[in-house]
Amino acid sequence: MSSTQAASKADFDVIIIGAGISGINAAYRVQTELPNATYTILEARDTIGGTWDLFRFPGIRSDSDLHTFGFEWRPWQAKKAYADGQMILDYMKDAAAAYGIDEKIKYHHHLTAADWSSADQLWNLEVTANGEPKTLTAHFCIMSTGYYDYSKPLDADIPGLENFKGTVVHPQFWPSDLDYSGKNMVVIGSGATAVTLLPVVAETAKHVTMLQRSPSYILVRSSNTLQERVMHAILPRWVALKLVRWTWIILPWIFFRFCKACPAASKSLMIALTKMHLPKGTKMEPDWVPSYNPWEQRLCTSPDADFFLGLKTGKSDVVTGTISQVSADAINLDDGRTLHPDIIVTATGLRICFAGAVTISVDGEKVDPSSKYIWKGMMVQDLPNIAFPSGYLHSSWTLGADASAIMTCRLIKHMQTQNISAAIPRLSLGGEEDMEDSSWKMSSTYMRRGKSALPRGGDRGAWWSRNNLWKELVAARWGNLTNGLEFVGGSRWGVGGN
Ligand SMILES: Cc1cc2nc3c(=O)[nH]c(=O)nc-3n(C[C@H](O)[C@H](O)[C@H](O)COP(=O)(O)OP(=O)(O)OC[C@H]3O[C@@H](n4cnc5c(N)ncnc54)[C@H](O)[C@@H]3O)c2cc1C
Ligand SMILES: *[C@@H]1O[C@H](CO)[C@@H](O)[C@H](O)[C@H]1NC(C)=O
Ligand SMILES: *[C@@H]1O[C@H](CO)[C@@H](O)[C@H](O)[C@H]1NC(C)=O
Ligand SMILES: *[C@@H]1O[C@H](CO)[C@@H](O)[C@H](O)[C@H]1NC(C)=O
Repeated sequence: MSSTQAASKADFDVIIIGAGISGINAAYRVQTELPNATYTILEARDTIGGTWDLFRFPGIRSDSDLHTFGFEWRPWQAKKAYADGQMILDYMKDAAAAYGIDEKIKYHHHLTAADWSSADQLWNLEVTANGEPKTLTAHFCIMSTGYYDYSKPLDADIPGLENFKGTVVHPQFWPSDLDYSGKNMVVIGSGATAVTLLPVVAETAKHVTMLQRSPSYILVRSSNTLQERVMHAILPRWVALKLVRWTWIILPWIFFRFCKACPAASKSLMIALTKMHLPKGTKMEPDWVPSYNPWEQRLCTSPDADFFLGLKTGKSDVVTGTISQVSADAINLDDGRTLHPDIIVTATGLRICFAGAVTISVDGEKVDPSSKYIWKGMMVQDLPNIAFPSGYLHSSWTLGADASAIMTCRLIKHMQTQNISAAIPRLSLGGEEDMEDSSWKMSSTYMRRGKSALPRGGDRGAWWSRNNLWKELVAARWGNLTNGLEFVGGSRWGVGGN
């Protein structure tokens, strides 16, 4: 790792952007796989946690089990597989402190622009550091910025909402002093956030209605399964923890494949399961029969059937309809029905944002990521030495982000030992210019509306998009590292004063 050219020495070998769950994980991989590499983490906010610190609505919890959503290198020990936001935050802080990762984080460092210099073979990063502009340089960047806009949620697009005289809140900015005891509430939306929020606010509010345009699938899952209790009873703790993690990877994957292979049967099964949890005699149409098949959109999870408890006591209900107009004190639906909330919650989704809205350029020339293809789920065509770890839509985000982190470290190691200073994904290498965009096939509103901001997924060679867990777990550790990449020679790793 000696450097021959003083001009190309960087401040750090690797700079990670974002101290959410992906950034902490990437840091662990970098410091264990590349012990001689120097790295830092830039975080715009004042704390670790990303999503799990930003979102503060009542009942905030994971939709994924923590055995797979947590870190592979820090087994989730709590009995419950689904955890609330605070538990996830504590777990992340604890894991980061245990490995000294917390000391590597520079808080209040907001990356605004990244420019690759071909002359120096490194990234120049424009950072707003505690309000002051600053430039940092790195040989390799890992963009663990999550996938949505932190400052602006998706526009709710509800006609007349501005007329409403009561309180309107978005789950992304839940006011900590919002008092909803004894109030009537309407939660607009049918995604994971609405399904999470409903049973929790129903405990305190007078009544809560979930108002949906169309239903989603809600899968009831046990947060502490029988097989887990058996494994822990008969096996040594560390074996049980590993096995539990693998069952949480394999069983949901089998279910996902089943849904894809037998859409009609899986639809009937999901509706039958839902019916079991509803009050006797509930009509399934129109509130409980989605218009799509299971796993064409992300499934919502209801741990231990919490969602359905309030429906039974009458504290909450579900209404399916289209809003024609919101007035000062009511929501009017197309079919003539009217709701009279004191508080409206717009659980209408996230605004998709690629790479933390950073302006990315190569030698001063701006690059539009949405016109580029994704190399092996983690790098972008024509951008040297930068990885964009992303997760899965159909299983825990962290599994995908970790596959990217592992592969990134392998790539850096390969570059260091072979004296390569830049690795650049190039479409031309395999004659793959005529690919069709196959990425992000899930069809939920915010995904459809956000797609124009994201790079494209290909369909062949090294340009597959992130959808096959097994292939990627294997590819990350043992797969071909070089196909589709152009390498630029020169021994330029290492850091130094410039
Ligand atoms: C309410 C809610 C529940 C969810 N539940 C699940 C779930 O159960 N399972 C699942 O798989 N996924 C879930 N998700 C998706 C979730 O966001 C991801 O799974 C995961 O938390 C993403 O982690 P991350 O580290 O990639 O991104 P984030 O948690 O979004 O963290 C990104 C970090 O990068 C920082 N950052 C961004 N841009 C910049 C910049 N330009 N400069 C400096 N710093 C920057 C941010 O401040 C933030 O700290 C949920 C999302 C929400 C909103
Ligand atoms: C790290 O550096 C030390 C000392 O220079 C060297 O002995 C060791 O082999 C290096 N490790 C790796 C993984 O490169
Ligand atoms: C890499 O460069 C170093 C120093 O310039 C040299 O000693 C080494 O042999 C080179 N390794 C390869 C694989 O070319
Ligand atoms: C990786 O793929 C490239 C291009 O297909 C090939 O030339 C190379 O030999 C492969 N490397 C390994 C280690 O298999």
